[in-house]
Amino acid sequence: MRMLICSDIHFFAPNLHPWQLFSKESIGNVNALLGINRGFLRSHAETLIGQISKLDVSHVLILGDFTTTSSKKEFLLSKAFIANLQEKGITVLALPGNHDNYTKKAYQEKRFYQMFEDLIDFRGHSPTGCSLKNEKVAAYKITDGFWVVCLDTTIKTPPFNATGLFDLELEENLCKVLESIPKEATVALANHFPLICKKGEYHALKNRERLHRVLQNYPMVRYYLFGHEHHYEESKIDHLYTLSPGSLTLKNRASFMILDTNGKVEKHDLV
Ligand SMILES: [Fe+2]
Repeated sequence: MRMLICSDIHFFAPNLHPWQLFSKESIGNVNALLGINRGFLRSHAETLIGQISKLDVSHVLILGDFTTTSSKKEFLLSKAFIANLQEKGITVLALPGNHDNYTKKAYQEKRFYQMFEDLIDFRGHSPTGCSLKNEKVAAYKITDGFWVVCLDTTIKTPPFNATGLFDLELEENLCKVLESIPKEATVALANHFPLICKKGEYHALKNRERLHRVLQNYPMVRYYLFGHEHHYEESKIDHLYTLSPGSLTLKNRASFMILDTNGKVEKHDLV
């Protein structure tokens, strides 16, 4: 079974309102319009849709940051992307990134889940009944021996802050879900944030060391999949392969990866 993993698509739809001056949404819009910190090409996402049938994948896992300012318009672009994949018979799994909870309102109304729940299964297959929407963790059985566990570590953040949080409640739920998976299975844990902070605390997952310690107690977790940093990466920490597909739409450096459930990893660049 081959699973395509991609992240940080950052669909953007300008949405500047004079009455929202200095709001976090306006700051995000100005940043994106001026291209201060990013330049993304939506056409890369369209290219992937055009190529996907040749890649022989059954699943696509998207590691968050579908949007830029978490506006409804950006979520509608994201929905069209997901629907295009599903029309080709592909199962889509997804979790949110910090940009999908960019504003207080989007976070409070759980907009990511509200917009996607008619397309994506957020409950998965864990007998614990934990779902990504409510308990922030869901487990999916991909084959008899291979599971994907998705985590939602996004939080409401102030402007110029892109942190996530692995709190005690999530730790408890994650352990409960991991206990429910057959011990002989291989598990890929998917989260938007990396386990190692390279850019500074304003951009990092709080309690990441704690998450790492939890994963060390579960040797069945062989892969840690993350996005957020827009760099392709294949590394190893102890027994854990840490893999990042990079950004699917980043101008001049767009990439994704394919993980075979037998363990083979392929890097793909989009040009
Ligand atoms: Fe991010």
